[in-house]
Formats: sequence, structure tokens, C-alpha cells
Amino acid sequence: MTSILVLNGPNLNLLGTRQPEVYGATTLAMIEDACRTHGTSIGLTVTCVQSNSEGALIDAIHAARTQQAGIVLNAGAYTHTSVALMDAIASVELPVVEVHLSNIHAREPFRHKSFIAPVALGQIAGFGPKGYILALDALAAHLTPKGGR
Ligand code: DQA
Repeated sequence: MTSILVLNGPNLNLLGTRQPEVYGATTLAMIEDACRTHGTSIGLTVTCVQSNSEGALIDAIHAARTQQAGIVLNAGAYTHTSVALMDAIASVELPVVEVHLSNIHAREPFRHKSFIAPVALGQIAGFGPKGYILALDALAAHLTPKGGR
């Protein structure tokens, strides 16, 4: 089975209790369970990692280069600040689908800028936890050779 990394950045470990009016009541553990279950159903082995540290996220992206075929990434606030994460993604040349629970384009102007978007396959924002499932489907479609399954 194809292996995929689901990588979550800072403060996403607090999902469920963190600003539920913005991010909902679903915990990260629930999202990760749903990703593993859905992944299995579409032929993907999903590994989940979360870190609050920029360096650890970069290390996980580097490690994915030899271990995974693609990455679903919610980089949290580093989305809007991290040239280093952008460079890491560009360096490993893996397909990355950027996910945000909230619609970052409908929020404060500083959230409209993403350093991930220019090096990502695409961006999914505003669909809550379902966004991770949509991202796995998008990666599966991208990784499936045209005309086959
Ligand atoms: C987020 C949006 C970011 O702006 C924010 O800093 C987060 C979560 C989201 O999933 O909506 O931590 O990435």
C-alpha cells in the first residue's frame, strides 16, 4: 500500500478545546483515526505526526522523502510565516496537499498569505476535519497512474 504522512503543526494538538467556535469540537486523535481508516479504505497507509516545533516539522518532511509517497500538511500558523517549511517541501519533491480546518481566506489578512501554497499540489480550506479526508482522496487520485487504479 502507498504510504502517506499526515503532518500537523503548532497548537493542533489542542483541537477539541482550542477555540471551538473556529476549529470545532473534533480532537486531533479523532481526525487521525479518521485519516487512518479512510486511508485504508482507499489503499493508503497513513502515518500521523504532530509537532509544535518548526524544526521537528522540517525533520518529518525530510524523513518522508524516503518513507512516504505524499504528505497532507496542516502547518498551523507556520503556514503564514515559514520560508523554512516551504524550502523543505520544495527540497523533498513530494506531493503535498495543504489543509486548513478554517477558511483562512475569510479570516484576518495575515492568514491569507501561505508559504506552503506555492509548493503544494493544492490547498483545501474551510471544510473542517473533512478537509483531511478530501486531501487523502486528492493525493490518492494524484498518485494513481492515469487510466489505472
Ligand atoms: C489553521 C489556520 C491557521 O491560520 C492557524 O494558525 C491554525 C490552524 C487551520 O487549520 O484552520 O493554527 O491552519
